[in-house]
Amino acid sequence: MLRIAVLVSGGGTNLQAIIDRLEDGTIRNACIRLVLSNNKNAYALKRAEEHGIPAECLSPKDFDSRQQYNKALLKRLQEENVDLIVLAGFMVVIPPEIIHAFKNRIINIHPSLIPSFCGTGYYGLRVHEAALKKGVRVSGATVHFVDEGTDTGPIILQKAVGVRQDDTPEILQRRIMEEAEWQIMPKAIDLIARGKVHVENGRVRIEEEDE
Ligand code: GRF
Repeated sequence: MLRIAVLVSGGGTNLQAIIDRLEDGTIRNACIRLVLSNNKNAYALKRAEEHGIPAECLSPKDFDSRQQYNKALLKRLQEENVDLIVLAGFMVVIPPEIIHAFKNRIINIHPSLIPSFCGTGYYGLRVHEAALKKGVRVSGATVHFVDEGTDTGPIILQKAVGVRQDDTPEILQRRIMEEAEWQIMPKAIDLIARGKVHVENGRVRIEEEDE
């Protein structure tokens, strides 16, 4: 059984999608061991508690330095014997020591079709503002492994979502969440939990897609 930690900072709708798919059996062979937030007011923590999942806050504000925080975060994840770290709207930069300790075992969801509208500064509504400004007809979401760069790790799944002429950043954000994020994140976890995802030469190969 794949032991997952979900790291969150805010509303936790992606966390909710993962919980729902675990509960209805769409995600197989996995369980959430821990939901961890850097922000004690994150609604995501409540969602976890409502489903009987251990939830806690680890805030950088409670540490003298970022180095100490990073060390505590790594320790917490290792204590729980986590196999996979899922970044679901976690607004803290993952330090290299955690990336190395969990190589190809950290995944992130980004609300665009990488390599468009990603990298430093592209988060939250900014991603969708940039997509609308460019006038793209299609955007979407990407689940990828996390490496040392920002949104540069191997791509696992992507899903396209149409952009409409009268979209606002908020409307586009919501549609991408509903039609893409909440679907491909649980799907990626299920594939990883069943050992179907392999990283080869910096790219992902998914066994089921070959069949
Ligand atoms: C999502 O838009 C996700 O793409 C981004 O952060 C947001 C998290 O939303 N990485 P939620 O907390 O899951 O509702």
